[in-house]
Amino acid sequence: MAAEDQFKKVISHAKEYGYVFPSSEIYDGLSAVYDYGQNGVALKNNIRAYWWKAMVQMHENIVGIDAAIFMHPTTWKASGHVDAFNDPLIDNKDSKKRYRADVLIEDYVGKLDTKIEKEVAKAAKRFGDQFDKEQFLSTNLRVLKYKERGSEILARMGKSLGNEDLADVKALIEELEITCPLSGSRNWTDVKQFNLMFGTKLGASAESATDLFLRPETAQGIFVNFSNVQKTGRMKIPFGIAQTGKAFRNEIVARQFIFRMREFEQMEMQFFIQPGTQKEWYDHWKKTRLNWHLSLGMGPDNYRFHDHDKLAHYADAACDIEFRFPFGFKELEGIHSRTDFDLSSHEKFSSKKLQYFDHERSESYVPYVLETSVGLDRMFLAVFSNALQEETLEDGSQRTVLKLPAVLAPTKVAVFPLVKKDGLPEIAQSIVNELKWDMEIAYDEKDAVGRRYRRQDALGTPFCITVDHQTAEDQTVTLRHRDTMKQQRVAISELSEVLKKEVSMRTWLERI
Ligand code: GAP
Repeated sequence: MAAEDQFKKVISHAKEYGYVFPSSEIYDGLSAVYDYGQNGVALKNNIRAYWWKAMVQMHENIVGIDAAIFMHPTTWKASGHVDAFNDPLIDNKDSKKRYRADVLIEDYVGKLDTKIEKEVAKAAKRFGDQFDKEQFLSTNLRVLKYKERGSEILARMGKSLGNEDLADVKALIEELEITCPLSGSRNWTDVKQFNLMFGTKLGASAESATDLFLRPETAQGIFVNFSNVQKTGRMKIPFGIAQTGKAFRNEIVARQFIFRMREFEQMEMQFFIQPGTQKEWYDHWKKTRLNWHLSLGMGPDNYRFHDHDKLAHYADAACDIEFRFPFGFKELEGIHSRTDFDLSSHEKFSSKKLQYFDHERSESYVPYVLETSVGLDRMFLAVFSNALQEETLEDGSQRTVLKLPAVLAPTKVAVFPLVKKDGLPEIAQSIVNELKWDMEIAYDEKDAVGRRYRRQDALGTPFCITVDHQTAEDQTVTLRHRDTMKQQRVAISELSEVLKKEVSMRTWLERI
């Protein structure tokens, strides 16, 4: 299926099966804002819990907080967001459509990546079993040319943006002959900066109200609480503070479904370290976070690291973990070496000491920070889009199956009585009542069993249990596996143990 069609299928499947709805849809929706439905919220909660367990529960030196969305407005002056949280925008004069200049250029480079992938696919077909992808990528002249061109373009863009040379960003767009996807013309305005924070007001009357911002990242709630947590938790460096929560950005080019939203959720962790050790912790967290993603079994080929060409105002090193979304490789998570920028700046603006006293070395210092930041909604999209598959079965029929990692699936097990009589519904209900203490269960007695299996396949339920007439005789049921469609006979008394092992976070996280 073409990538565009696959993505459309993802969006319609998410709606049809109660995962994601356009926000306030009865009023025709609100651009780049979405609501999570009954299954979506369960998947989202499970992703959040999987992250929290791996980051907080499994690390003795990481604790969690939940800071407010509203923060003192000086926070955003100190963090640099008031002055520097901008996107470079460009308008097409014919279509009157506004674009992010850096995204137009990155999309151009993305097309070079697609050309490389096509060369690889062609060569793989030509050489068959003999094909060595690594060698091909490092020696094929055409591939090397595309790679070099892409790097040159990104390096120039990074330099121009870093130097605030917006005229050169426009010149680059013109040199690359980038056209407006809508009008097809190259009639561009100059590039301008646009601040992404949403403003709001706190107070009863217009005169006394204070101007606030909706937080554009959760990280600052951690920095302003550094001393509170360090002292009350008696935390010793190195240690981390984690938090999940909403963030808001007035994204101008909001598109691609829940990939880029105006209201979204982040899962962030700030790891406080001794200055000078940032390189080693940067490598550590790159590896640890990639392994967390890999533990979900979505395939190593779907991830890659991308080093930032343009470093944010606070960073001395930064990279993204990119995921292969239906529209290509894009950022899923950021790993940033933030130096002491945030704590030092909050010290300056608040006139409060934000330092750590190192007893062993008998000295105080402002800690350096290593940040890991992953979008919960983006993680949802990665998991969901990767899971949705159309399969042709042996008998030639088609099935739509959502192969969600079992640990994240909204419903772990669906229990069916084969027929609605002979005491089978009662046995099925008693199995539901037992299993629901430990996992999310559904009960379904409507339609033929084959149709019920298909319904659960499309919903992403990894296991189905069917209670039949044999159950009444020998206390066993059929356990059906979603991905292989294999069925096995299992004693009712063993169900809980067998299933708990399959869906427990421990089983999945132990792969890290
Ligand atoms: N505290 C650092 C920070 O916020 P970021 O790269 O701007 O860094 C981190 O954002 C992550 O948040 C991204 O990797 C992405 O997963 C998610 N994210 C950022 N903007 C988003 C948006 N508009 N919609 C959905 N997710 C977004």
